[in-house]
Amino acid sequence: MSFGHGGHFCIGASPARTELATVFARLFRRLPGLRLAVAPEDLDVRAEQVTGGVRALPVTW
Ligand code: HEM
Repeated sequence: MSFGHGGHFCIGASPARTELATVFARLFRRLPGLRLAVAPEDLDVRAEQVTGGVRALPVTW
């Protein structure tokens, strides 16, 4: 669903997936202790936007 659907399905979905797989694999290899610095229930989720997400993502490692 992140890349839309139907006639306007994202044409960049395939390279975006490849890039993100590489980014996350490298990120967690370099920072194995990477984790949230706050409790998950304290994250401020942007419910008013279609794209969602969180306002801030405090992390520590
Ligand atoms: C994580 C990365 C990405 C996400 C989450 C994403 C998400 C989306 C979504 C949801 C749509 C559908 C919009 C709609 O229904 O109107 C879309 C369309 C589109 N995306 Fe992406 N996209 C990403 C990366 C990319 C990349 C890397 C490219 C180009 C290299 C790209 C090019 C496009 C284009 C040209 C459309 C319009 C397709 C059309 O209307 O026929 N996107 N994208």
